[in-house]
Parts: sequence; structure tokens; C-alpha cells
Amino acid sequence: MAQSPEEQALIARFSKTYGKLTGSEAMLDIERQVCGCDYGCTSWTTRDETTDIIKMLGLGAGTAFLEIGSGAGWPGLYLAKISGADTTLIDLPFEGLLAAKRRAETDGQTETCHIAQADAAALPFKDGGFDAIYHSDVLCCLIEKQAVLGECRRVIGDGGKMVFSVILITPGLSDADYKLAAPGGPVFIETTVPYPTMLDRAGWNIIEHADQTAAYHDTFAKMFDLEKANAEELEKVHGRDETAQLFTRRQATLDALEKSFLRREFYSVVPAG
Ligand SMILES: C[S@@+](CC[C@H](N)C(=O)[O-])C[C@H]1O[C@@H](n2cnc3c(N)ncnc32)[C@H](O)[C@@H]1O
Repeated sequence: MAQSPEEQALIARFSKTYGKLTGSEAMLDIERQVCGCDYGCTSWTTRDETTDIIKMLGLGAGTAFLEIGSGAGWPGLYLAKISGADTTLIDLPFEGLLAAKRRAETDGQTETCHIAQADAAALPFKDGGFDAIYHSDVLCCLIEKQAVLGECRRVIGDGGKMVFSVILITPGLSDADYKLAAPGGPVFIETTVPYPTMLDRAGWNIIEHADQTAAYHDTFAKMFDLEKANAEELEKVHGRDETAQLFTRRQATLDALEKSFLRREFYSVVPAG
């Protein structure tokens, strides 16, 4: 599926970011302290959450597991390591895929983990081939949300399950509050169709829908505090201008979170009858 120039620009930015995060011990150290991992993660999934994800998806040896928007391998490679699932990771930014490949090699996972460059809105897989799918704050980073949910539905087998997190603008805000919320969220956070409606249209039944905003708020605030405390290191990695821009975006997110204008939600869904 053709991507808009804005989406292509975002993928290019992600690619640079994965290269920078995985190439800096200081950034990986912040990630360890905040999310409990050191893969160069850009979502807000923490190591604590992975225990629930493994349980919810029933991951284990022999499970055909797909992570879409897998970045530099978090949390897909980690979930694979802990559960033994036969894992496929897909994303678009080249530097992220390269970092994931290197990590799979270092951790001895190349036999069970397959990494490919692919668009989640046009998955290069046969129908019904996966038992479990996960994605971490991915739908808020792309425009074709409905197409991606449809593709996930196409490639999941009978009896399969999908779990995902997503950041969204709190429904029902006034126009003025909405204008403050949107710049605080991921680039493609906006959607006119609620996620439950999109899921229904794509042929998914919701079995669990949980609000993770409080945990997201804590994780986010901890990350921002550590980044500010290590501003010099960030400037070495990202440069002075990019660090200033990052801090401006972080402040907008924090402001929106503190006013309850943003949410992070978890969905666990199964194919509809
Ligand atoms: C918030 S990041 C999460 C990355 C990783 N899973 C992590 O937790 O660090 C969202 C990811 O979605 C990916 N993404 C955006 N549009 C995509 C698309 N059309 N197909 C596949 N991945 C996409 C981005 O490249 C990015 O790596």
C-alpha cells in the first residue's frame, strides 16, 4: 500500500532513531531503567507488561507468533526468548530491522526468529498462518489503521489471538482541549473511527479492553526525567536541535497526560465467529 509523504518521513525518522538508540550505551541505560529492556525501544511497553502479553497470547514453543511494527526487536525478540515461540518480526525502518537482526544473532535466536521488511497494511503472508499477533503503540504511528487490522485478521488462524496497545486522544474532549491533546500524541494518533468500531469492521471480537494510561503516565514521566538529567548525553546522540525538539514534544505529551487528554489502551481480540 502506497504511503503518504508524511508516513515516509516518519519511517525515515524511526530508522535514524533506531540507529542512534542502539548505538548509544547511555540511551540503552535509560531504557533499562525505564522499560527494563535494552533493545532501542520506541514504544511504552515495559518488561513487566511482557509477562501479561505472553499469558494473554498463550505464547510457547510451537506458537506461530507475529509482531508488526517490531522496531529494533522490542518486545518481539524478548517475547520469543522467554516463550520459545516461532517468531516473525516485520517493520519498515531499515536501521531497526538491522538492529533486530544483530540482536537475534547475538542472542542465538536466528533459528526461531524471522525478520522482514514489510508494510503492515499489506502483509506478505498467507491467510491464517499465525496463532498470535502483537503490536505495541503501532496503530497511532500509521494512517491505514483499518487496513492493518484487516490484514492482521487475514493472517490469523482460527483459534488465534491478537493483543495490542495503542495511544489515543481521550474521547469527548472539547475542540479547545482536542487542539492541545493532538500535538502531544504520536504523529498519526488522530482517528475519526473508534478502535472498537474498526475492530468490529475488520472481523475481530474484543475479549479484553484495559486502560493502561496510569502506567503509561508513570513510564513516560520517568523517561522524560531521566532524559532531562542526561541532556548532555542526549545532545551527543541526537544533536542539540533535535534534543530541544524532543524535549518540546515530551513536554506537550506530559501536559496532555496530566490533563487526561491522552490515553493508552490495551486490547485483546479474537477472530469473530
Ligand atoms: C512506537 S513504534 C514501536 C516499535 C517497537 N515495537 C518498540 O516497541 O520499540 C511503532 C512502529 O510502527 C512502525 N510502523 C509504522 N507504520 C508501519 C507500517 N505501515 N508497517 C509496519 N510497521 C509500521 C514504525 O516503523 C515503528 O517502528
